[in-house]
Amino acid sequence: MSECVLVCDDEELIRWSLCEHLGQEGYRTISVTNGKECLEAVREHAPAIVLMDIKMPVMDGITALRALRESDPDLPVIMITAHGGVESAIEATRLGASGYLPKPFDLREASLAVRRALEEVRLKREVHYLRTREHSGYAEIVGESPTMRRMFETLRRLERIDTPTVLIQGESGTGKDLVARAIHGRGPRRAANYMEIDCTALPEHLMESELFGHERGAFTDARTTKRGLFEVAAGGVLFLDEIGELPMGMQAKLLRALENRKFRRVGGVADIALDAAIITATNRSLRDEVKAGRFREDLFFRLHVVPIEVPALRERREDIPMLVQVFIEKLNRTLGRTVRGTSAGAMEMLQRYRWPGNVRELRNVVERTVILLPGEIIQPSDLPPEIRLSAETTRGGGGACPFVLPEEGVDLEAVERGLLEQALTRTSGNQSAAARLLGITRYALRYRMEKFGADGAAK
Ligand SMILES: Nc1ncnc2c1ncn2[C@@H]1O[C@H](COP(=O)(O)OP(=O)(O)OP(=O)(O)O)[C@@H](O)[C@H]1O
Ligand SMILES: [Mg+2]
Repeated sequence: MSECVLVCDDEELIRWSLCEHLGQEGYRTISVTNGKECLEAVREHAPAIVLMDIKMPVMDGITALRALRESDPDLPVIMITAHGGVESAIEATRLGASGYLPKPFDLREASLAVRRALEEVRLKREVHYLRTREHSGYAEIVGESPTMRRMFETLRRLERIDTPTVLIQGESGTGKDLVARAIHGRGPRRAANYMEIDCTALPEHLMESELFGHERGAFTDARTTKRGLFEVAAGGVLFLDEIGELPMGMQAKLLRALENRKFRRVGGVADIALDAAIITATNRSLRDEVKAGRFREDLFFRLHVVPIEVPALRERREDIPMLVQVFIEKLNRTLGRTVRGTSAGAMEMLQRYRWPGNVRELRNVVERTVILLPGEIIQPSDLPPEIRLSAETTRGGGGACPFVLPEEGVDLEAVERGLLEQALTRTSGNQSAAARLLGITRYALRYRMEKFGADGAAK
């Protein structure tokens, strides 16, 4: 797949010759004439790399580079420096340019620099990706935020201990099913069966025979003896999903079985040992259900021995880019597509949205968007309206400013610094949370902290 190179220079001859040469090398090229246009083109076209002159009218290359580092810290930028412009070259490197081409340059030199910079980004991404996957050890559960890391730690402990009951709590679509499967797949019971049942799926009497099994003739339809899930999952794991919905009568029966570690088939007289580990999951707060009198407190304590909280997606927005990347890669494989990613603007919107349906909703959105996508980069306009709209409202009602400018004016830098400090104090220095309060990315926050002197801002 050809990668897109953005060439930014005010000299037409340089633009033309670079585009011509890089085009022959198989790259797609776009060219613009100053820093301002460059920033716009990056937002719109999400190029893989930028080649930019330093001295240009309207907005110079150093200013544009500074802005790019803030909005798009991983985008490789190669600066084209004029003869003798050593100082700007040093400044550019300090600002994170991936390299510079001193004028006059050979066109082969230019394409070599582009190839090298792109290769470096690819390697960095791959290494990062592999490292985080290795780190968690749970390849199918994507996430590297602190809350997810804590959850992986708990999961790793469960690999060695055989726990009779685990309770997984989390909003709908957070990945509770994945967690339950991972506990079975990596735990001491992985060689035996994994059975699951949704507690909302069946009426109470059918649920009972499904779980405990029944003897022939126990009721009208019981023509044969049937083993229940407790028996089939012996030595393995039985996953009871939506446990909060279990009818009261069944709650009593389940509690009895768990306490005695044995049960009987419906209509049976023989005791059968309960040898399955029981994993339960709920998207309601079981504690609230207990308080409301809908869930037995004694059963709650039985199930709550090892509780696992799966965090909502809005509490770990930093995982969104990685999740999106994984979903896009999967879709590329199954649909034979070559979608490369999202533009910075689109990613910003995805990270602002509240995601009431959590990862399931994100996955659906990515899927829908990729299927309908005309190009290779997801742009803001490709996203469903609910996501675009919510991004606008969190920006302050589409332009309405919540602050009134005093007559005498303000010192904007001081206001900015003040808000930054307040956000960091309020979140006890948690940068992701502070960035959310300010409606900016963590990178933008870091950049400002550095600008104001991290100590002053983070006190
Ligand atoms: N951390 C994650 N990494 C990758 N995919 C995930 C992750 N979490 C959830 N998913 C995906 O999101 C979808 C929903 O996950 P899952 O069914 O496990 O959610 P759930 O918490 O059980 O939801 P519900 O309460 O509605 O049953 C699945 O397609 C799953 O593969
Ligand atoms: Mg589920």
